[in-house]
Amino acid sequence: MNNLIEIGKKYPSNKNRFGFIQIYEKYFNDIRNDKINILEIGIDKGDSLRIWRDYFPNAKICGVDIVKKDFKIDGVDFFFGDQSDEIFLKTIIDKFNSFDIIIDDGSHISKHIISSFNYLYPYLNNNGLYIVEDLQTSYIPRYGGSRLKLNKFNTSMNFLKRLTDCINYEQNDRPFYEKNKFDGMIKYVHFYQNIVFVKKEASKKYYHPNKKQKSFINSIKKLFSKVFY
Ligand SMILES: C[S@@+](CC[C@H](N)C(=O)[O-])C[C@H]1O[C@@H](n2cnc3c(N)ncnc32)[C@H](O)[C@@H]1O
Repeated sequence: MNNLIEIGKKYPSNKNRFGFIQIYEKYFNDIRNDKINILEIGIDKGDSLRIWRDYFPNAKICGVDIVKKDFKIDGVDFFFGDQSDEIFLKTIIDKFNSFDIIIDDGSHISKHIISSFNYLYPYLNNNGLYIVEDLQTSYIPRYGGSRLKLNKFNTSMNFLKRLTDCINYEQNDRPFYEKNKFDGMIKYVHFYQNIVFVKKEASKKYYHPNKKQKSFINSIKKLFSKVFY
């Protein structure tokens, strides 16, 4: 069987040009023969979907694009719509239920990357991977990024960086935590140049306060907010 790098050479996807294929090989090799569901946002000419189709013999694959395509790819389902439209994304979930790999190579607009992640991550299976490509756009204003204000809250990179706190946040200082809805659901966040791999794993140790504890915690937080941070 050809490896991913050899298969990649057959199809002129940007994934080859930017060196992503070599990184993908490291993450996908172990699950290559599994029965998995794969979703990629961004079909373009279909080259990356052909790569996945050839590489994963037992996978169900679907591609999403805002622009309707006049071609088909055997073994791949196409869905046409906007990645930031939850009603549209729900039609995909209604058909596939959940995914093991989700790749966002769509609009690259920070707002879209964040809204797609917020909607789709709950439908990523345990041990699944959520990948976002072309993160250089996080520093480009027309994609909602910023070159100058590196701490701008709603850029794709800052959203993804905040996920790193969800990994081990549960272990210390509980009452003063600002909760993130992905706390206890992130195994790792691996950044490479222009691409990130987020691995899902439900944490067993995560602390979930009940309603009463929450309101007590909030009043303490208010009281001490100037001292503790
Ligand atoms: C970089 S190309 C995808 C390349 C492809 N994944 C590959 O590696 O061969 C990005 C694609 O995202 C699509 N796109 C742009 N905005 C989108 C949106 N809001 N929702 C879904 N797809 C979008 C574009 O039409 C374009 O085909």
